[in-house]
Amino acid sequence: MNARTLSPFDRLLAGCERALEAIAGSPQAHRPSPAADIPETDMDDAERRHAAGLMRINHTGEVCAQALYFGQAALARSADNRRHLLHAAAEETDHLAWCAARLQELDSRPSLLNPLWYVGSYAIGAAAALAGDPLSLGFVVETERQVEAHLAEHLEKLPAQDERSRAVLAQMQTDEIRHAQAARERGGIELPFPLPKLMHFSSMVMKLVAYRV
Ligand SMILES: [Fe+2]
Ligand SMILES: [Fe+2]
Repeated sequence: MNARTLSPFDRLLAGCERALEAIAGSPQAHRPSPAADIPETDMDDAERRHAAGLMRINHTGEVCAQALYFGQAALARSADNRRHLLHAAAEETDHLAWCAARLQELDSRPSLLNPLWYVGSYAIGAAAALAGDPLSLGFVVETERQVEAHLAEHLEKLPAQDERSRAVLAQMQTDEIRHAQAARERGGIELPFPLPKLMHFSSMVMKLVAYRV
């Protein structure tokens, strides 16, 4: 059975399999980490904990991105948009793997609540897809816009000497800007009030929790 003949339910099941890989597996990046050629620098315990907290937030954000894209792809109306969403999700896999590797280097771990964030984000992605491709793509535009702004904030908040984390976040920021542009060019519409505010609020909650747990 090829992708064109899969039913929505089949695609939901395939999404569950991908969920396990994102949450409990070891996602493989398709591109080398932007931190690969940057030497590690000395940080004291507080700085390492802070950098790890920020990178845990970013890792959880990428878990959510995987879930959103796969939820949207599962119920996308057009096969072309579905392919586009899955291609973007593959780039998010790079981000996920880079953040996971950096967390390990900082002697830390991903958020324990990632399964919950994944399930919630997948449901939101699927709901956005049910509303039709223009709104679903608009949801991508708004999500990536908010993530890009958040990454700019984290680039400022990282310990000054943590160039390895900074290189990862800078490449992610470049990719997220491109994802937003691509979704806009495919017909993504501006989301009506209060959706952007609700999305911002839920990401604030995620950031508060994932920094610590
Ligand atoms: Fe990403
Ligand atoms: Fe993205």
